[in-house]
Amino acid sequence: MSDPIRFYYQGAVHEVAGAAPTRTILQHLREDLHCTGTKEGCAEGDCGACTVVVGSLEEGRVELKAVNSCIQFLPTLDGKALFSVEDLRQPDGALHPVQQALVECHGSQCGFCTPGFAMSLWGLYLKQDGAAPTRAQVDDALSGNLCRCTGYRPIIDAARRMCELPKVEFDEAALAGQLAALQRGEGFDYAGDGKRFFAPRTMAELVALRSAHPQAVLLAGCTDVGLWVTKQMRELGEIIYLGQVAELKTIAEREGMIEIGAGATLNEAYGAVCRHHPQELTEMWRRFASLPIRNAGTLGGNVANGSPIGDSMPWLIALGSQVVLRGPQGERVLALEDFYLGYQQKDMRPDEFVQAVRVPLPQPGLRFRTYKLSKRFDQDISAVCAAFAISFDGERIASARIAFGGMAATPKRAALAEKVLLGASWTEDTLRAATAALAQDYAPLSDMRASSAYRMQAAQNLLRRFWLETRIDDPLPREAVNAFALGA
Ligand SMILES: Cc1cc2nc3c(=O)[nH]c(=O)nc-3n(C[C@H](O)[C@H](O)[C@H](O)COP(=O)(O)OP(=O)(O)OC[C@H]3O[C@@H](n4cnc5c(N)ncnc54)[C@H](O)[C@@H]3O)c2cc1C
Ligand code: FES
Ligand code: FES
Repeated sequence: MSDPIRFYYQGAVHEVAGAAPTRTILQHLREDLHCTGTKEGCAEGDCGACTVVVGSLEEGRVELKAVNSCIQFLPTLDGKALFSVEDLRQPDGALHPVQQALVECHGSQCGFCTPGFAMSLWGLYLKQDGAAPTRAQVDDALSGNLCRCTGYRPIIDAARRMCELPKVEFDEAALAGQLAALQRGEGFDYAGDGKRFFAPRTMAELVALRSAHPQAVLLAGCTDVGLWVTKQMRELGEIIYLGQVAELKTIAEREGMIEIGAGATLNEAYGAVCRHHPQELTEMWRRFASLPIRNAGTLGGNVANGSPIGDSMPWLIALGSQVVLRGPQGERVLALEDFYLGYQQKDMRPDEFVQAVRVPLPQPGLRFRTYKLSKRFDQDISAVCAAFAISFDGERIASARIAFGGMAATPKRAALAEKVLLGASWTEDTLRAATAALAQDYAPLSDMRASSAYRMQAAQNLLRRFWLETRIDDPLPREAVNAFALGA
């Protein structure tokens, strides 16, 4: 017996039965509900034409987040609220300040991207609660939206203007009540088009379901899995959705570690670690995909996917992080670098899942940096991603951890370069020897992002950049080695 999907949309509870579990929110909006304001551009989370805002109850609080509806599966909406551009219209038919500002600032030409921009701006409008956003906040909110004809200046002007217009209130308390009424006491079991979609609510239910369905696809934020369907046209079998398991979303500091539940979003996870490494990690946070992707995607999904060009693994490994696996026998803890056995091969049994990632709290004197090389500042995949962490005993290097993405079939430590550093003084001679060792540690591939030679040269240059920033004599300030000056 299948439960219908229930979510709040346009002032009412909306029920869906029978739709395939991989039907996207965008397909449902446009093709089933004929709400065609939301557009499809790329169908892979890259352009933002499909941006909607999803409201959910998290520990009794309402959270409203912009996400890409083109890669989110419809059953993930169960128990949530959906807001599309149609919701911006005011009861008297007037434009919302977000729309009015876009009109006044000439923020739209062909208009194809405009509903997506309007929804990203609405997400910012709600967050700002009347306060004027900084340029950095505007850039971040719009990091997932592309416009091919207007140009961004008028849209950025609109982002500022919207907060000067008479404020339109949003009734969060009413939404909290509506969402509370939609919550289920137990797991959600949905079937449509002959496929099953399970959404357990507790860790115990999840462990039991994973044991019973080891072949099912585990689904977290859907920012990788969504593309298996929309781009690779893959048929997925059974799906186990992790997004309703509250225990998987917790972030806590204990025993010298930050423990990040696998279901915590990328934004929440980076936020927690950046509190301890604001100088070192904030740029990586802002350059990871775009806000809508970070609102949906999880750190657990990034680690479990284990892409050789994923951005979190190098810094997690350099900091000495662990992955906590959970199965019917209980927990199993591995050093993150030991989790990756080969290209798309992990030390994870079919009845296990990633429960959490543990990141050590910073030790005094640790020198840590991570760098991302990609063609654009945000919303771009790395060609090379590097992370370095060293500590000293007097003048000598007492510990060294170096990890790269984009240099091998997995995120991988530079064992030989680390060996050169251990016990040495952090001089230019040591740097040269470690740089030479990198050429033995890695044999990178050439692909559409970068050639093998470029990757090796870039990796060696990044090690030099780390040295310039952390050498004992005359270390250079971040601004002197960074092409991007991050605004406030
Ligand atoms: C437009 C766009 C831009 C992107 N930019 C970046 C980027 O800049 N840097 C980067 O690193 N990545 C990027 N990604 C990739 C993606 O966003 C990340 O890998 C993200 O962290 C995946 O998390 P998710 O929760 O969405 O995973 P999902 O898509 O839900 O799952 C990903 C994989 O992990 C498995 N999985 C998920 N959770 C668990 C778990 N708890 N236990 C076991 N297996 C699990 C799934 O079965 C699947 O195989 C981008 C993706 C898109 C679409
Ligand atoms: S259609 Fe491009 S991000 Fe969804
Ligand atoms: S107005 Fe045409 S793509 Fe933005």
